Amino acid sequence: MTIAITGASGPLGRTTAELVLQALDPREVVLTTRDPRALAELAARGAEVRRVDFTDPDTLLGAFVGVDRLLVVSTDAVGARLDPQRAAVAAAAAAGVGHVVYTSVPEPVPANPALVVADHAGTEQALRESGVAWTVLRNSLYAHQQVPGLQHAAATGRLVTNTGTGATAYVTREDCAAAAAAVLVGGGHEGRALDVTGPLALSAADLAALAGEIGGREVEVVHVGDADLAAGLRSAGLPGHVADLVASFGAAAREGFLGRATSVVADLTGRPPTALADVVREVTAQVTAQGAASGAAPDGSGR
Ligand SMILES: NC(=O)c1ccc[n+]([C@@H]2O[C@H](COP(=O)([O-])OP(=O)(O)OC[C@H]3O[C@@H](n4cnc5c(N)ncnc54)[C@H](OP(=O)(O)O)[C@@H]3O)[C@@H](O)[C@H]2O)c1
Repeated sequence: MTIAITGASGPLGRTTAELVLQALDPREVVLTTRDPRALAELAARGAEVRRVDFTDPDTLLGAFVGVDRLLVVSTDAVGARLDPQRAAVAAAAAAGVGHVVYTSVPEPVPANPALVVADHAGTEQALRESGVAWTVLRNSLYAHQQVPGLQHAAATGRLVTNTGTGATAYVTREDCAAAAAAVLVGGGHEGRALDVTGPLALSAADLAALAGEIGGREVEVVHVGDADLAAGLRSAGLPGHVADLVASFGAAAREGFLGRATSVVADLTGRPPTALADVVREVTAQVTAQGAASGAAPDGSGR
């Protein structure tokens, strides 16, 4: 049994690789990346590292030869990754890979306004048409990426959002990696699209309560439209495309595309998913410990 993981130097790919290496002989593990030097330590432990860049067809020739199960980690090139990911799926099929697992997004349907949907929907379609057995892991939004916004809300007493009353079932990247490793090592789940989520869907009011807990103060929810949210994020220093992406996820939450919490993490890994609240409390405890040493307040306000 040979298992391969693409994008293995990225955080999700690497965490998944570590979990797979705990379960298998390293000689059964192939790790692909654009930068093999970043995986020198895993190569030293016995994994085979191959240089693969989905945008470079030469590197896809033979990339997946001898691989039984492959995790294709979606790339971060939102809007420019569909053709490269299609090429990766085609290379897997040409190499005779038995089972391809792909990281997608919940509800990649045309009505979903999240800007990542078109790439994921197109790649899922390519998988279904490839003739290879497939599993799609539709990862919800990462929990840790919410922490800076919650810290900001804690510091200002205002949580600015375009999610309305919509909720999101945030998931940790570690739980996404554990779910992927479970499918890679254990097999099964062919022909299934699984929503990989945290234990609870949280609304803006829930997030404000969490921010209030961090800051030790009342945090007010301020509802704005998509354009105003994106403009505010831009003026706070986010690159335009990131601001638009965040606003589109807010719209997706508002319209109910991110609100389903599932038992998939527990079903695949045998343990419950970590809640966003626990991620926030852990980060806050770390910041508090550091603040105690430097004299700063845990919400970053300097109070
Ligand atoms: N659920 C969420 O909230 C959320 C948030 C952010 C991203 N994502 C998605 O989940 C993926 C993995 O998450 P992450 O946190 O590890 O992402 P990340 O830090 O953005 O890492 C980017 C990943 O894309 C790979 N990649 C980029 N260009 C590539 C190319 N041309 N060919 C092959 N691989 C390429 C990188 O692999 P190498 O550098 O090793 O080549 C790396 O694994 C992201 O790429 C994105 O699609 C999800």
